[in-house]
Amino acid sequence: MSLQGKKIILGITGGIAAYKMNYLVRDLVKSGAEVKIVLTKSAQDFVSPLTLSTLSKHSVYTDFFDDNKTWNNHVELALWADLMLMAPCTAHTLAKITVGICDNFLMAVYMSAKCPVIIAPAMDLDMYAHPAVTRNLKTAESFGHTIIPAEFGELASGLTGQGRLAEPATILSVLENQFSDAKQTFAGKKFLITAGPTYENIDPVRFVGNHSSGKMGFDLAKEAAKRGAKVVLISGPSSQKVEDENIKLCKVTSAQEMFDEVFKYYEDADVAIMSAAVADYTPKVKAKEKIKKKDNELTIELIKNKDILRTMGEKKAQQFLVGFALETQNEEENARDKLIKKNLDMIVLNSLRDEGAGFANATNKVKIFTPTEEQSFSLKSKEAVAKDLLDFIEQKL
Ligand code: PMT
Repeated sequence: MSLQGKKIILGITGGIAAYKMNYLVRDLVKSGAEVKIVLTKSAQDFVSPLTLSTLSKHSVYTDFFDDNKTWNNHVELALWADLMLMAPCTAHTLAKITVGICDNFLMAVYMSAKCPVIIAPAMDLDMYAHPAVTRNLKTAESFGHTIIPAEFGELASGLTGQGRLAEPATILSVLENQFSDAKQTFAGKKFLITAGPTYENIDPVRFVGNHSSGKMGFDLAKEAAKRGAKVVLISGPSSQKVEDENIKLCKVTSAQEMFDEVFKYYEDADVAIMSAAVADYTPKVKAKEKIKKKDNELTIELIKNKDILRTMGEKKAQQFLVGFALETQNEEENARDKLIKKNLDMIVLNSLRDEGAGFANATNKVKIFTPTEEQSFSLKSKEAVAKDLLDFIEQKL
């Protein structure tokens, strides 16, 4: 059991979903984990310290001093832990995490913790969709924390949308994965992965681009490296970061640069996964100087870029070649068409008609097609999607 003997701090903040933590604590303890719980003041309106201390077999922390005036050492507690989980994490606590506001015992423990931190937010749908929350989740992610995205469904307000705390079983599996020693199933394999958008310059100031953040491709690269692969990750402009000795990151800007870089590594690759959103067209003329505002209309002539994936399909030898299809209509038909025309072994369809799927989101919903099979997956974090895709590829190799 990957959780056997693991020391976990569970920080519970004030939201109706806090009641689910009774079940999670029970399951964590059953799995062999040692759980110490910190409740904020408002969390105590939703769950009882007595219930949680009975389930966890430890006293529950609510403040710097307990009832008999003993000081609770936040640093000692923080350094004890192998992992800290914030669930449910309210918009308020999330905001405090991003700016380092240390105004209660839970935040003091969080700020002192050196272990991995996992955040499971929960709030009403409009709060969850607020740009401040979106930005704060991204900031927390940039600190290296893992986010378990809120799920779709009925909310305490009676409204339906994304904001529900992930189910205890989902949270449990994320925690188990955190501690599981990934099997080195791709040891000795060379992966070539593309990520992000391409930018096609119009002039020195402007470009034609798209909304890809690069996250899907980076998560694929990290997961493949975790399983022992040597990865070359070719990325268009993206703020995603990776530090892994098994990942060689090559940064490019345009589709032509991505084409050139891909074919430096393709011949040797065992698996190639093209998750980049490559521009299909590029300006015919790239102005040397900034184009000045003159007439009411400006026409920019675009010419077709080379299709990198199609060329890879034409040159395919030993490589297991995987493409992505980002569609908005006739999704399955278009994906199958690309699978055949580009001579792929597998294509991953994501549709912008599925809420939470595709660009920029931390989540994705995909369907895999091979010439003989298909498999659908539910909406999940891009890290979890990367695991599903690599599990599938693992079976095919
Ligand atoms: O980066 P994120 O914000 O995490 O978002 C992830 C994603 C939505 C970008 C990703 O999941 C995805 O769908 N990537 C493919 C986007 C795309 O360009 O799809 P397409 O259907 O237009 O292209 C089909 C395939 O051909 C893709 O594998 C693409 O990389 C490839 N292609 C396209 C054009 C071109 N000139 N050369 C190519 O190789």
